[in-house]
Amino acid sequence: MTTGDDPVKLMKQQVGKAAAERVQSGSIVGLGTGSTTAYAIQFLGDRLKSGELKDIKGVPTSFQASVLAKQYGIPLTTLDEIDHIDIAIDGADEVDPQHNLIKGGGAAHTREKVVDSLAAQFIVVVDSSKIVDRLGSTFAVPVEVLPMAIAPVTRAVQKLGGQPELRMGVKKDGPVITDQGNMVLDVKFEAIDNPAELEKTLNNIPGVLENGLFVGLADLVLVGEIENEQPKVRQM
Ligand code: 5RP
Repeated sequence: MTTGDDPVKLMKQQVGKAAAERVQSGSIVGLGTGSTTAYAIQFLGDRLKSGELKDIKGVPTSFQASVLAKQYGIPLTTLDEIDHIDIAIDGADEVDPQHNLIKGGGAAHTREKVVDSLAAQFIVVVDSSKIVDRLGSTFAVPVEVLPMAIAPVTRAVQKLGGQPELRMGVKKDGPVITDQGNMVLDVKFEAIDNPAELEKTLNNIPGVLENGLFVGLADLVLVGEIENEQPKVRQM
């Protein structure tokens, strides 16, 4: 194995590269957020630099994606300037057998859902640790909330059986503030029997902007794995 001795890094790198290889010249590309997508953005930049890929435009899902795209020389555009997205590449925190997702580990799920849902093809890139039998097994559902509505939304999700926790910053005192200036409640549910229903119910609470359940959106899930000490990418 290479890339230090970190197998998770290696899986993320390989799966990010595999997704970036699927992008064709002339495409408008949704650029997801997170450490796995960061590798895809890097490889897209490499392909542009080598001349193998031409004339793509990226639609970033976060400040992180736009900073990385600039760093790797990917021209950016906005949803005001385009009328379609050909392909979006994005990570996930959990993937179930129906390809439903929990996203929002980077607090970017609101913009991610806008961009990923507009893409003709939405490719999810994950390492094998993200595959679960049932959503909510390992990860809480991130819910972006207007700051003035944190108290009532906290009570509302408790009534739904969730255990909310205000996400706190790392290397920043106080709560995480999203790219839109909101806060995030990470809501742990004992069991998510019907993700589609819960996605709608959460978004119906006044003060909630968006939640991290992505139901029926993924077209393709690429999974990075290590087999016999070698990195491998498979389609789920
Ligand atoms: C950000 C996301 C990320 O895509 C998700 O958290 C996965 O991140 P990583 O690839 O770093 O594991 O949803 O809001």
